Amino acid sequence: MATETLAQMDEDEKIALLHGKMPALLPPAKRAEGVVIGAGWVQGVPRLGIPALVETDASLGVSNLMNMRPGDHATALPSGLAMASTWNPELIREGGAMIGSEASAKGFNVMLVGGVNLVRDPRAGRNFEYLGEDPLLAGRLVGAQIAGVQSNPKMIATIKHFAVNDQETGRHVANVVMDEAALRESDLLAFQIGIEEGDPGSVMCAYNRVGGSYACENAFLLTDVLRGDWGFRGFVMSDWGAVHSTEAVLAGLDQQSGDQLDGKRWFSDELRPKLASGEIPQAALDRAAGRILSTIYRHRLDGWDERARQPIDYAANGRIAQQVAEQGIVLLRNEGGILPIAASAGKILVVGGNADKGVPSGGGSSQVAPVGGFKVFEQVSKDPMKSFARRAFGGTPPLDALRRELPSAAITYVDGSDPAAATAAATDADLVIVFADKFAAETMDHPDLSLDGEQDALIASLAGANPKIVVVLETGNPVDMPWHDQVPAILAAWYGGQEGGTAIARILTGRVNPSGHLPVTFPRSVDQLPNPKLPGSDAPKADKAARAIYGVQADLQPFDITYPEGSDAGYRWFDAKGLTPLYPFGHGLSYTSFAYGKYKVKGGKRLAVSFTVANSGEREGADVAQVYISRPGKAKRLVGWGRSDLQPGESSKVSIMADPRVIGDFDPALRKWVVPQGTYTVELARSATDIVERREVVLERLEVQP
Ligand code: GLC
Repeated sequence: MATETLAQMDEDEKIALLHGKMPALLPPAKRAEGVVIGAGWVQGVPRLGIPALVETDASLGVSNLMNMRPGDHATALPSGLAMASTWNPELIREGGAMIGSEASAKGFNVMLVGGVNLVRDPRAGRNFEYLGEDPLLAGRLVGAQIAGVQSNPKMIATIKHFAVNDQETGRHVANVVMDEAALRESDLLAFQIGIEEGDPGSVMCAYNRVGGSYACENAFLLTDVLRGDWGFRGFVMSDWGAVHSTEAVLAGLDQQSGDQLDGKRWFSDELRPKLASGEIPQAALDRAAGRILSTIYRHRLDGWDERARQPIDYAANGRIAQQVAEQGIVLLRNEGGILPIAASAGKILVVGGNADKGVPSGGGSSQVAPVGGFKVFEQVSKDPMKSFARRAFGGTPPLDALRRELPSAAITYVDGSDPAAATAAATDADLVIVFADKFAAETMDHPDLSLDGEQDALIASLAGANPKIVVVLETGNPVDMPWHDQVPAILAAWYGGQEGGTAIARILTGRVNPSGHLPVTFPRSVDQLPNPKLPGSDAPKADKAARAIYGVQADLQPFDITYPEGSDAGYRWFDAKGLTPLYPFGHGLSYTSFAYGKYKVKGGKRLAVSFTVANSGEREGADVAQVYISRPGKAKRLVGWGRSDLQPGESSKVSIMADPRVIGDFDPALRKWVVPQGTYTVELARSATDIVERREVVLERLEVQP
């Protein structure tokens, strides 16, 4: 079908497919009739029934950056780290199906979801969008999300940002230096699993350089790995303003997105003369256009009509967002069983974190204007490259939700701006609940792991006044907790999306049993990190000469990012170095307890693990049991997990067949994954450091295609 259509297209029609615009930056007269304004728009070929590609962000719902569709709102899912904390692919798939249905109903047919860059540095500003530090967990969850989005008819999803765009500082100029084995075993493995399990129509290549060449013109990534090894059959679009040459089409880039943001129209104005001269062969144009066409047909976008819109059931969609938020909240600490809060609770003081205004959302292209709108919406940076990343609070305020769940309690609120007054009010409260938030956004990394402003001092002062204190963290990343030992109960609630406030209140009061488990490590300090100093944090500002080389979006002088951990991101680094984190990957408490039994491990050609989980407590709850593997000289790796929702006394069996690519190493010389023959330790665990049982097992040598 694509071949026949391509044969009927002239050069201009083919080139029309190879570049997109940001409609919001087009003068109204130049905007296509009836096309909804979103992140991107690619002209189609109407005479041949090829529709325009109408693109919206992103993984957390249909975003409405800068209110480009005045007043439009959408269901705001919780952040990626909250989604990852659920360890529940089925639920994440349901969330993807929901946001994809809203995108379709609003007139879009491409959704720029699937952010799966690994959390290598807990200061990185977009970690709130992503799915944690482990390639297996992140890969499976992003695959589920993509499959969910594309379960909607006539919808193409992306997976992004390919690859290793793992920090915001210098994203347009940084060069990642990492050997192929480390790359394959970590960031690339997350993409590989996500593509296998989600089958996205498109891959979005990243801003940064990898191995010296820009990701969007990197033949190793876009041709050797993506097509050659993985057999990816869709098309590659660039990130917005990530293209630096027309020759990128030869490396495997098929579409320049948001081409107003690049210095040149590389895939239109600059392409035509090079086609005429033969510098760029016609075959390259046909290949790129053909990939886009075949994806359009495979996702049945032919015949797509932007006017055919379904109604949106925001109430039902809100319930999905609430379920994700509830399952994504991690109970980090609950000394003395201070939680859940009893219905008979008397005087409760709620402090800070804008708990009277809603829950925070991260800033940038993924920011959704939630149903009900934002209560607080402020520009954080005047820098034109960063001004779109705004701080916002929306959804049901936790304070209102707590009052609803505890109607007989006397709940008062102070915003914490007067620490002395807040501390005085805390002295005679039966319970103090402090909300602590930290703003995170695209284009910005954190300078450190501290909470914003004077929140640490406030929490310490309140804890000194009243030992019955709970801290609810609403952050986009792991944070320092200097007050940790003075606070008996701590919740990691992340950015909970529009139903986050309700979810927090239902967890605090025990209406819902917490079941979240950390998808990232909480370090004790940045000194434990592979890069204690954030790479590029001291890079000089870019000058005209730098911009002439690295593009108009270059804001810093170029620098290399070397990751000393290699493929051992996160808990693997802590294991390899024998470091004890503040809270380990996989950690999460419950209001009930779980017991494990019949732990069996079978080796040989493939590793098979099984065990039973029983709810040994008094109330229903969900457990996430994890299985890790290690061998002498190699850090442990997650090979599987089981989420079990159990009534008191109920038990279930978990069976895991490990993926050899997670166990083995990538051998660039052999160009294969190799599981060495030998003895391995296989751990059944509650977290990366809380081991229930260990078994030794022998695995035979196994080689697997890349
Ligand atoms: C951004 C982001 C990308 C987003 C795109 C369109 O800069 O990096 O995630 O999909 O532009 O908004």
